[in-house]
Order: sequence, then structure tokens, then C-alpha cells
Amino acid sequence: MPAGIFISFEGSEGCGKSTQIGLLRERVLATGQSVEVLREPGGTEVGEEIRHLLQHAKAGHGMMPEAELLLFAASRAQIVREKIRPLLEAGCLVILDRFLDSTTVYQGMARGLDLPSVRAINAFATGGTLPHRTIVLDMDASVAWNRIHASGRELDRMESQPLEFFEKVRQGYQELAAQEPQRIHLVDAARSPEEVHADVWNLWLEAQTHGV
Ligand code: TMP
Repeated sequence: MPAGIFISFEGSEGCGKSTQIGLLRERVLATGQSVEVLREPGGTEVGEEIRHLLQHAKAGHGMMPEAELLLFAASRAQIVREKIRPLLEAGCLVILDRFLDSTTVYQGMARGLDLPSVRAINAFATGGTLPHRTIVLDMDASVAWNRIHASGRELDRMESQPLEFFEKVRQGYQELAAQEPQRIHLVDAARSPEEVHADVWNLWLEAQTHGV
């Protein structure tokens, strides 16, 4: 049984995930504990190449949803074995910016790929390494969508999806949270960063006490 704690953050684009991960990281570091933040897809050399292909490369434009699913899974298989497991064994708090639930929601529930196949591929990629807690930053889909479109920066392949896709993503996370209430927690992300962080902090404290 690993000694560290594994927390993943999920939510649609524009939900404030990076801000919340940064706040948790800083506060845990201030207590003297070791923390590592990793992102998916990416987090390893192999994974970052895959991320580029998935998000920005010209070659990715004609990508089939099945190929997309397997690329996310390939990045995950690498990061679990190369980074997450050794860090947990060393007693680290490992924070993942997205993990397997992104695949279930985006490729399975929103893109509509066969869910049992998505779950089987996720299980193969993770080899049973699951987060102790998953924090979903829940937010009205149109608010998230408008935030991204108001940002003025160039949007990647997923961010350019229509509002309807964002709605399916939100609903997907809500369904997962209902299915796995022990692991997956919805946090209302429509509040101030400080208020959201207070909930995140409590979940972290709870994971420390009961999570492992
Ligand atoms: P982000 O983490 O920087 O927001 O971007 C990652 C994008 O990739 C985001 O749009 C969600 C998407 N994604 C999937 O569709 N499936 C996955 O398994 C993962 C990890 C991410």
C-alpha cells in the first residue's frame, strides 16, 4: 500500500482547476510536506509528445475518437508507472491535473464512445492505481464556455467544442460523482477562489485522515 496520497482534479475547461491546484500545492508545501503536481495528458516526456499531438499538432486534426481515447490512455499508462507510483511510494502528495475520469467523461460520455470499452481501457492503463480523492470543480457549462471564449487566446481542439459538449461534460462528472461518492466530490466552482479552496482544503484534510 503506497504511503503517499493521490488527489486528482477534474472539471470542464475554464473551471479554475489550475488556480485551485496552485493554492493547494502552496499550502501543503508550507506545512513541510512534499508535493508533486502532474498533468494529463503529459507529465512525462512520452506524455508531453502525446499532449502536443492531441491538442495542437496539425496531424491531430483528422484524429478519430477511438485513436484519441487510446492516446490519452497511453499517456496515462506511462505517467502511472514512471511517476505516480514511485512518488506515492516515497510518501509524496501527488496532485493530478486530470486523470482517468476525464477519459470516461470526455471520450465516453461526451464523445459517445462505448462506455464499457472506455472503462476497460482505463483499467488497463491505470493498472489499479486510483486517486484517493477526486475533486470535480463543478460550474454552469455556459459560464465555463463564456470564460474560455472571452479569454482572447487561441483555443485548442477540445476548448473549441460547442456549448452542448461542455454541458455533456458537466453532466458526465455529476453522474460519476453520484456513482462513486466515496472518491469523487463535486465542489461548487462558481464562488470566489478562496471559498472554493476552503472546500478543497477540507477534502485534503479528510483524505489524510481517512484516505489511505
Ligand atoms: P487541460 O487539462 O489543459 O484543460 O486540457 C486537457 C484537454 O484534454 C481538456 O480539453 C480535456 C481533454 N482530455 C480528454 O478529453 N480526455 C482525457 O483523458 C484527458 C486527460 C483530457
